[in-house]
Amino acid sequence: MFGTLQAMPADAILGLIAEHRDDPRPNKVDLGVGVYRNAAGETPVLDTVKKAEQQLLETQTSKAYLGTAGDAAFNTAMQLMTFADAAPSERLMTIQTPGGSGSLRVAAGILLRARPDTTVWASDPTWSNHVPLLGGAGLALKSYPYYDADKHVIQIDAMLDTLRAAPKGDVLLLHACCHNPSGLDPSEDEWRAITDVVVERELVPFIDTAYQGFARNIDDDAFAIRHIAARVPEMIVSSSCSKNFGLYRDRVGTVSFLSADAVTAGIVSSQANSYVRTLYSIPPDHGAAVVRMILDDNKLRSEWLVELKEMRDRLQGMRTLLNDALAVKTPDHDFSHLVRANGMFCFLGITADHVARLKRDFGIYMVGSSRINVAGITEDNVDYLADSVASVLK
Ligand code: LMR
Repeated sequence: MFGTLQAMPADAILGLIAEHRDDPRPNKVDLGVGVYRNAAGETPVLDTVKKAEQQLLETQTSKAYLGTAGDAAFNTAMQLMTFADAAPSERLMTIQTPGGSGSLRVAAGILLRARPDTTVWASDPTWSNHVPLLGGAGLALKSYPYYDADKHVIQIDAMLDTLRAAPKGDVLLLHACCHNPSGLDPSEDEWRAITDVVVERELVPFIDTAYQGFARNIDDDAFAIRHIAARVPEMIVSSSCSKNFGLYRDRVGTVSFLSADAVTAGIVSSQANSYVRTLYSIPPDHGAAVVRMILDDNKLRSEWLVELKEMRDRLQGMRTLLNDALAVKTPDHDFSHLVRANGMFCFLGITADHVARLKRDFGIYMVGSSRINVAGITEDNVDYLADSVASVLK
């Protein structure tokens, strides 16, 4: 049986974890996978997560199955955090999923059940696992222009023109904030223009929100979701708690479906739950229980918002630090787009050859597209980083 299989290449992002780990150079730098790191280069468990885990340990009385939808109180808390009151709750259904990827996979299954010939439009570029994950589930994908790699801006006019020509009923995959990989998000006016096209073309918005709270704050980062939800009959939102709660390996997320009416919402709910049963049966509980305890407790919630702000501010600080250092070390190149980006990522804007040389000669790891995770920058390594980039650009 297995003799027919061919070996697969390492994942473009996850493969870097092992490569960096196995590099013996003491001054190596990891700007690869999207994991937050503090000034000491560590990814600690958030204090509020530790507190909630402690409470959970003391108060949890059972590990019995919760069911395909997971923790109902978690789902309600997440739905509120994402949508606020933008859409009537009887038209919305939210279920817990194993992380954002599990959420995308469930959404793909429901789209395929609803309309097997669905086409999903994804930004060019998009998260490098979007196309394999959604395409692997069986969906057809096309791309719309998004990032202008020369000018380091969003190609909003080209994006809107492409979407205006999309067939009615196609699905439009969007990043709610902190676009991965570019870090560049539409302005509120641009979101309004995108929404107008969505309404006009009767597209189904499918919003991936993996960084809520990493750009400006929880509410501003949900602007696109709430603005669109108030104007469309149907949409999908995939949420992840990996980054904003630092629960990466615990796999915590939700998928929400907005339907045209309450009856359809009930049908979608039954479909989603039955689909989950065929896929992984029941989502893992621990991380979702932790998030529920934080969101439902005023004190823990406000402490978490402080921790979230600390992460956000550090990311923005490191962008500025690297841009300032590069401005000194390589004044002929403009890296100012670094500080215009949001969240963990942006493109450095160098070639694949430069990226390969940074890894080979300097032990600096980033995705081949030159996407960097700015959380890997510290006061201690920024000069080494800027010197190395200047050296390959010479
Ligand atoms: C990333 O883009 O680096 C993260 O979302 C981690 C992943 O799964 O790719």
